[in-house]
Amino acid sequence: TKLSHIRNFSIVAHIDHGKSTLADRLIQACGAIEARDMKEQMLDSMDIERERGITIKAQTVRLEYKAKDGLTYQLNLMDTPGHVDFAYEVSRSLAACEGSLLVVDASQGVEAQTLANVYHALDAGHEVVPVLNKIDLPAAEPERVKQQIEDVIGLDTSDAVMISAKTGIGIDLVLEALVTRLPCPEGEENEPLQALLVDSWYDAYLGVIILVRIKNGVLRKGQKIRMMASGLAYQVDSVGYFTPKIIQSNELRPGEMGFFTAGIKAVADTKVGDTVTDDKKPAAEPLPGFKPSVPVVWCGLFPIDAADYEDLRDSLAKLRLNDASFQYEPETSAALGFGFRCGFLGLLHLEIIQERLEREFNLDLITTAPSVVYRVHLTNGDMQELHNPADMPDPARIDHMEEPWIKATIMVPDEYLGPVLTLCTDRRGQQVDLTYAGSRAMAVYKLPLNEVVFDFYDRLKSISRGYASFDYEVDSYSESELVKVSILVNAEPVDALSFVVHKANAESRGRGICQRLKELIPRQMFQIAIQAAIGGRIVARESISALRKDVTAKCYGGDASRKRKLLDKQKEGKKRMRQFGKVEIPQSAFLAALKMG
Ligand code: GTP
Repeated sequence: TKLSHIRNFSIVAHIDHGKSTLADRLIQACGAIEARDMKEQMLDSMDIERERGITIKAQTVRLEYKAKDGLTYQLNLMDTPGHVDFAYEVSRSLAACEGSLLVVDASQGVEAQTLANVYHALDAGHEVVPVLNKIDLPAAEPERVKQQIEDVIGLDTSDAVMISAKTGIGIDLVLEALVTRLPCPEGEENEPLQALLVDSWYDAYLGVIILVRIKNGVLRKGQKIRMMASGLAYQVDSVGYFTPKIIQSNELRPGEMGFFTAGIKAVADTKVGDTVTDDKKPAAEPLPGFKPSVPVVWCGLFPIDAADYEDLRDSLAKLRLNDASFQYEPETSAALGFGFRCGFLGLLHLEIIQERLEREFNLDLITTAPSVVYRVHLTNGDMQELHNPADMPDPARIDHMEEPWIKATIMVPDEYLGPVLTLCTDRRGQQVDLTYAGSRAMAVYKLPLNEVVFDFYDRLKSISRGYASFDYEVDSYSESELVKVSILVNAEPVDALSFVVHKANAESRGRGICQRLKELIPRQMFQIAIQAAIGGRIVARESISALRKDVTAKCYGGDASRKRKLLDKQKEGKKRMRQFGKVEIPQSAFLAALKMG
């Protein structure tokens, strides 16, 4: 297709504003699939995504649209991941397009992710077309929301398209706007190949499928290609695009989007943002913006039943095949046994993986408290990245430590602003900006990421009755007074419960855990001391007094079968216990103590 007949676009929106519904409508309107073939929300391919209503994997569909000018256009719709944890993947998807549809729910208005996503689109140099969705709803206020888009984002909304993705009103106007308002891509077919690697995933039949946007040159079946950042070279087996059905073709040309396969075994070998070039006639320069993805949140995953260890290892390996940003390594805990230390792009990413392991792979897991990556500068001048509080070096060897900060954007109705600001301040937040748009406030804060992984989302949701929306990006590392708090049960440290925290909060967090454990650990035949310590200094202490009576005492003598039943029950309970020194700690105590809430 000629460059002037191609339009590459993405849809940016806040969760639930109707991105997937609009995508389905566009696909349907271009006749790419029969209505009866159409599963609801075509682009969200995994079940969990569909269930949670979150788009995780970016995918693309090619549509053929006959416009009012009589010409047929190739429209490439790039679906972008909908959550902040995937900000880098979003930026690469956007780099593959020239424009965006900004979808805003006309009954809700601008939300935190509307802003974050539209700024990503504007950063990528996109032409942005505002689209007001859900105008069929009685609560829709398109005029107010248009004004809000102008005030908050500064976009001209005089040509905003009014639609209902649900009923189909205005879909034709969206298609015309794409053709008339978005620029066409640029590219040179005689230059050496430069294709942007936008996404990749594992397919049981085809191996790794790589999604690319051709910037210059031509990608052909049979060609030998090389990835410029990873240095790996492959022979291209197949080339094509999605409609969303897989269509094979012989080549992809400048401006086009599509996929190729090349006998690649692991998604980990294909880095999002890398440049695919010709092996024999490589491009002089890679495309700008490559950044290897690094996990920012780590936690331990342990099987509740030690017999599941091998299964857990196999399941992690399978997940990793399809998710290059997820990392893991073996970890041993005195308290929890054999498990794995796992790294994620953020909390949502963690939750998704944990849920898949439990659901798809049928594993019962203990997840230890998430920890961020600290930089530990030692007195000998070395720097270590700390993924696990249990590995913290002796404080005498530490010169200073740094922790990651994020820039968070919170949108909240006025009446809940007070408690939200208090929460941010309590979590060591620094206000960057506070503005109002209509009856909503937008607060921009710098916050330490470790305060956010603690229980920030839950608190934010509860103090705003669910009305606050939250978005963040990782900002920078800065020096901080951090200490490791160890939890001791009868003077023995329980490694899985130790955590790193700012000095100012160490005592209160330590006390909180001790109090919770006191509630959770059943009394035993002897007294149990629960302590929180920083180095050798005890900062909090609780004790559980000894149990005097035998469990069977209350069945006064006679009834032997009843007595046996009770003992059996006790034995059954024991399986769910972790022996710790002399003390038995029930599984549930770990789970609850780790919840931190
Ligand atoms: P994520 O995939 O979570 O990012 O959400 P999304 O932005 O893709 O939203 P989705 O398309 O899943 O729509 C969210 C909800 O709004 C669904 O229940 C849709 O049926 C509904 N919806 C979408 N468009 C309209 C519309 O025009 N009118 C009405 N009344 N409901 C709509």
